[in-house]
Amino acid sequence: MPGIRSPSDYSQEPQRHPALKINAKEPFNAEPPRQALVSSYVTPTEFFYKRNHGPIPVVDDIERYCVSVHGLIEKPKELFMKDIMNLPKYTVTATLQCAGNRRTAMSKTRNVRGVGWDVAALGNAIWGGAKLADVLELVGIPKSTCATSAGGKHVEFVSIDRCKEEKGGPYKASIPLSQATNPEADVLLAYEMNGKTLNRDHGYPLRVVVPGVIGARSVKWLDSINIDSQECQGFFMQKDYKMFPPSVNWDNIDWSTRRPQMDFPVQSAICSLEDVNVRSGKITIKGYAVSGGGRGIERVDISIDGGKTWIEASRYQKPGVKYIADEEKSDKWAWVLFEAEADINSNTDIVAKAVDTAANVQPEKVEDIWNLRGVLNTSWHRVHVQVRHSSM
Ligand code: MTE
Repeated sequence: MPGIRSPSDYSQEPQRHPALKINAKEPFNAEPPRQALVSSYVTPTEFFYKRNHGPIPVVDDIERYCVSVHGLIEKPKELFMKDIMNLPKYTVTATLQCAGNRRTAMSKTRNVRGVGWDVAALGNAIWGGAKLADVLELVGIPKSTCATSAGGKHVEFVSIDRCKEEKGGPYKASIPLSQATNPEADVLLAYEMNGKTLNRDHGYPLRVVVPGVIGARSVKWLDSINIDSQECQGFFMQKDYKMFPPSVNWDNIDWSTRRPQMDFPVQSAICSLEDVNVRSGKITIKGYAVSGGGRGIERVDISIDGGKTWIEASRYQKPGVKYIADEEKSDKWAWVLFEAEADINSNTDIVAKAVDTAANVQPEKVEDIWNLRGVLNTSWHRVHVQVRHSSM
């Protein structure tokens, strides 16, 4: 592939922030301390979680880097960075969340396979780039197309990193053509993150951002786009990132019975506290809530008695702007941060649960949504606090 290459080992990894909690070193998988998520609405790039399946690619010559667009279309093309940057630039504030967020907690009920994550395998960034709908017009696919005349119905994104799950081949994923060509879906080929050129960890020079959908479909280090009649047959679409019922185990699993997960469900977590000792009195409970598919957050409920009674938290996105779910001024693809105050006088479980604009609500118990890959743990988030009574 001209201009970009995939190292065969981990000797050329980028520098990372020392405060990140490393969940796996090679490939590099890390999340920030949960408190870092609630210090700002937009997550600083250095604290944005990093989820990789192989060594980070190296760009040697950005002038020669291009994306080939081919498959069931009339006008296949090679697009250079200048072609992409000549298209109108859009910025979209979107939360990217790994389907494995909160896996560690799920594995405590019953063992699951996969990299462990606390509650911070997500982040909210301002992505800048071209709309995929505009890029696809360059190869003759009009906006709002469900199928090309040659029968293309899916848009497959192929990267250049080498993943052991793909037997040394590249990471790949697909989304439906109808979503890719819908300008309202805001799917981007992003070259900027938080106002700066994308960095290597997050997909330099070009990545896909599919808002409202599990992070696995936002392919980094884009190499080619293939318009196909069927969805991507790669490992991460067919043998991973699918949701199974608690009865399925590694002996009876049939991957073909389930669809690849796309939209993520409603989620929230408390970030200002871990399982801790607190002084009795007033405490502030802060965290995030987010839902997939562009659905806003209608409510966040907080309990300070383990889930018996509830108070409503306040929700906000941009400072000074009142958040109203599903209003034009709100960022539909982004999380809300929430805040509540409570008096704590004895040891207890503090719990958060969010409700989205379709009235979807997080399930209470992790056992009910347990699955062997430990994905989509959206159960009520609990923090156990032990009260220290001051001697004064
Ligand atoms: N793209 C490539 N090429 N290789 C990868 O390993 N990981 C995916 C997705 N895109 C991945 C990828 C997964 S599982 C997630 S959750 C997001 O990228 C993570 O994006 P981030 O590292 O920028 O946070």
